[in-house]
Amino acid sequence: MKNVLALCISLLFFASIFSSLPTSSSADSTFDSFANCLTKNGVPSNQISKILYSPTNTSFSSVLNAYVRNLRFNTSSTKKPSIIVTPLTVQQVQATIICTKGSGLQLKIRSGGHDYEGISYVSDNPFVILDMFNLRNISIDQPGRTAWVQTGATLGELYYRIWQKSNLLAYPAGVCPTVGVGGHISGGGYGTMLRKFGLTVDNVVDAQIIDVNGRVLDRKGMGEDLFWAIRGGGGASFGVVLSYKINLVPVPPFVTVFSVQRTEAQNATNILVKWQSIASTIDNNLFIRVLVQPATVSGKKMIRLTFNAMYVGNSKSLAALMKAKFPELGLQSSDLKQMSWIQSILFWANFRSSSDKPEILLDRTPSVNFLKRKSDYVVTPIPKAGFTAIFNKITQLGKIGLVFNPYGGKMSQIPETDAPFPHRAGILYKIQYSVNWDSADPNLTTQYLQQARDLYSFMTPYVSSNPRQAFLNYRDLEIGTTDNGPNSYNEGKVYGLKYFKGNFDRLVKIKTAVDPQNFFRNEQSIPVLAA
Ligand SMILES: Cc1cc2nc3c(=O)[nH]c(=O)nc-3n(C[C@H](O)[C@H](O)[C@H](O)COP(=O)(O)OP(=O)(O)OC[C@H]3O[C@@H](n4cnc5c(N)ncnc54)[C@H](O)[C@@H]3O)c2cc1C
Ligand SMILES: *[C@@H]1O[C@H](CO)[C@@H](O)[C@H](O)[C@H]1NC(C)=O
Ligand SMILES: *[C@@H]1O[C@H](CO)[C@@H](O)[C@H](O)[C@H]1NC(C)=O
Ligand SMILES: *[C@@H]1O[C@H](CO)[C@@H](O)[C@H](O)[C@H]1NC(C)=O
Ligand SMILES: *[C@@H]1O[C@H](CO)[C@@H](O)[C@H](O)[C@H]1NC(C)=O
Ligand SMILES: *[C@@H]1O[C@H](CO)[C@@H](O)[C@H](O)[C@H]1NC(C)=O
Repeated sequence: MKNVLALCISLLFFASIFSSLPTSSSADSTFDSFANCLTKNGVPSNQISKILYSPTNTSFSSVLNAYVRNLRFNTSSTKKPSIIVTPLTVQQVQATIICTKGSGLQLKIRSGGHDYEGISYVSDNPFVILDMFNLRNISIDQPGRTAWVQTGATLGELYYRIWQKSNLLAYPAGVCPTVGVGGHISGGGYGTMLRKFGLTVDNVVDAQIIDVNGRVLDRKGMGEDLFWAIRGGGGASFGVVLSYKINLVPVPPFVTVFSVQRTEAQNATNILVKWQSIASTIDNNLFIRVLVQPATVSGKKMIRLTFNAMYVGNSKSLAALMKAKFPELGLQSSDLKQMSWIQSILFWANFRSSSDKPEILLDRTPSVNFLKRKSDYVVTPIPKAGFTAIFNKITQLGKIGLVFNPYGGKMSQIPETDAPFPHRAGILYKIQYSVNWDSADPNLTTQYLQQARDLYSFMTPYVSSNPRQAFLNYRDLEIGTTDNGPNSYNEGKVYGLKYFKGNFDRLVKIKTAVDPQNFFRNEQSIPVLAA
């Protein structure tokens, strides 16, 4: 019986592979006409042969898979692009935009490929991937405390280049070194210093974008509206972002980190109640993230909390601060680890052995998993009984966990309209729903996606409402999508208000002005207003 079933499945797979892959001759003709168009737009053929791939190229799959960062989208049934372009020059990007427009294919732009729903490299429509990984120059102006960084660079490369120039400068961006600058900054990315310095986009001062007509525009050329939009509204609705100019921030020679765990048997619930009361109001130099995960301790199922902290200061002053404001955590002085900022980047990225050197940040190939993420924002403290109920739910589900990221500090001082990212004053903390697994068994996928939905539904009374806010960079297609048809404004409003609140309508106006034909579109892009 099992064999018969397996055979049926493989026949089905075979049928779907057969119908979804273009025949070799249609792939060749798409490739040929794209190549012709690139030639007409000034790309010499000796360059085209280095940057243009169709499914019949032998290295097509390895190029495609090189930046797939969620294995849910690395299956034989995942829709594949008709063309991949991997430009080495700005002019090749310009030509790719023009030629994709002429081809009728959809354009998907990929920088680091970390989109949680894979929308930078998957589409239901026939599509082209514009893969930015070759465009990764970083130039640091140390005296001016700024840097230009191309969007194909990773955060790890950026951190490394800053550190090479000075160990007293930094950039307040995300924790995972292989995340791409393009998606991360354009989506309003954040890291462990957000309470002191705000978001990535609060430290962006200029940018270069290529618009729908293939023009390269800097801040002055694009104007303040479009510049505002690509500081958190998602780049992919507006154009291809080539580079950002960022402000570097000052850090002391030593910062301090800790990571400690407390289980329910160690008073975790009371400790979390106390954390909630101090985490968003304590000294801006301190960020204490909490992971809430199911665990088995001495054969008993219970919740385990992990408190991961970043303190922009030395261990002595952190010890005093914790003693005064959060003694319930019971930190020992041996828990506090004082180190340089670049070492703290390694610590947060889980490179915690003394043999791990900063060069590891240049490694572009992380280990990858199957993933699902969702997000929420907490605006009213959750009562102790609420935490108990949430803990029971998570223990019962068995796999999914939550991550609490405190806001406040600088985040509360920046007006909600300053950038498209609207989650500012009044937010206590953001919740990330997080489940990772390492098996392609479709039953597990179904089960874990369902756990995420169950927990999200269970959390409704404890989180923001009207709108129920969500973080764009924790992409979640379950909160709404658009088919980019005639109803796209109303569809877009469903996820748009969650991601952008009152900033959504300004994004729609800017989108309508800069890309009225909706060329730059995806499952959750900013819709255009009908003419
Ligand atoms: C392991 C992991 C850790 C993470 N940690 C953090 C974190 O600490 N903080 C945080 O804020 N987020 C974090 N994220 C989320 C991350 O910031 C987003 O997924 C981000 O969008 C990824 O950028 P990317 O370039 O790698 O992704 P991609 O998948 O390449 O792109 C994401 C989106 O941006 C668009 N895009 C990409 N490049 C361009 C461009 N050049 N021009 C226009 N549009 C573009 C894509 O089309 C897509 O819509 C993490 C994600 C992962 C997988
Ligand atoms: C893809 O295949 C075509 C046809 O064989 C070839 O001309 C081209 O150089 C290949 N592209 C790359 C990037 O190798
Ligand atoms: C993605 O799938 C391909 C084809 O099945 C496989 O060869 C490759 O190893 C997979 N990638 C990862 C990272 O597992
Ligand atoms: C990247 O930097 C190198 C070296 O400075 C330069 O030659 C190249 O033109 C730059 N590439 C782009 C696309 O800016
Ligand atoms: C648990 O925490 C509460 C509140 O902080 C405290 O009063 C109590 O003494 C703690 N119990 C233990 C066993 O540490
Ligand atoms: C998946 O679930 C189905 C239905 O419950 C079951 O018949 C099948 O054996 C499961 N497959 C695996 C790989 O566990």
